[in-house]
Amino acid sequence: AATMERMQPELVTAPPIESDRVATHKTVLMCRPDFFTVSYRINPWMHPEHPTSTQTAVTQWEALHAAYVALGYDVHLIDPIDGLNDMVYSANGGFTLDGKAYGALFTYEQRAPEGPAYMAWLQEAGFEVHAPSHVNEGEGDFLVAGDAILAGHGFRTTLESHDELRRIFGREVVSLRLVDPSFYHLDTAIAILDDQNVAYLPKAFDDASRAELERRFPDAVLVSDDDAAVLGLNSFGDGRSMVIASRAAGFDRDLQARGYATVGVDLSELLLGGGGVKCCTLELRR
Ligand code: ARG
Repeated sequence: AATMERMQPELVTAPPIESDRVATHKTVLMCRPDFFTVSYRINPWMHPEHPTSTQTAVTQWEALHAAYVALGYDVHLIDPIDGLNDMVYSANGGFTLDGKAYGALFTYEQRAPEGPAYMAWLQEAGFEVHAPSHVNEGEGDFLVAGDAILAGHGFRTTLESHDELRRIFGREVVSLRLVDPSFYHLDTAIAILDDQNVAYLPKAFDDASRAELERRFPDAVLVSDDDAAVLGLNSFGDGRSMVIASRAAGFDRDLQARGYATVGVDLSELLLGGGGVKCCTLELRR
């Protein structure tokens, strides 16, 4: 085993630190970035004039995949499609809860074909799939927080889709308005820590939304601009462990202080497309 570890350092994740918190078993859908590149600009992080490395993206993504497997998650894979540069960001592929799936309808034509591709996968996997009538980018903008769904709007996902979400899932949907173009999806501005708590970047929201977050989550972790600037909030966990950007040092310390076991990964190449850990993760909830 020692030899294996020396030969494949990228597959070795740090053993989770001690935590008294209780993990919920997670099932997720990921998409290997075999066709990842940045050839257009649909968010401020993307610079098509600078080259990117598909190989580096794949290697980094494999480390994220390995981290999830090491945490005991069930990881499903959807086949990447040639020409869909952004398909690796599976969070945008839809939203699932209670065995139902709400399909994505993308803002930009470059990603439009991903909507039907993810819906077909979810159908095949046994979800009751609801085709969308309104523009929405799936779990990039819809996050489950306890019994409620937090729903972003302002850049991609439309407010009309929040009503559609409410009708399909019969849950409370809390609309939150995003105002900073660098944090254009809700999952870049809020991290779900567990059923009770979240972490967020206050300046990413308008005043009313920030007030709503303060009311609902008085004990939330507020992250610094530095941690947000490496998409530190774009993280995923199971209530006990949080997989986060390794460069988000302050967020890492705050999470450990609150008793979460953190696992750091480096997705710097995928950050060039404007995404991180959570963007590469679509949770499947039966
Ligand atoms: N390049 C992609 C886009 O702009 C990145 C998506 C990031 N995904 C996310 N869930 N935040 O659409």
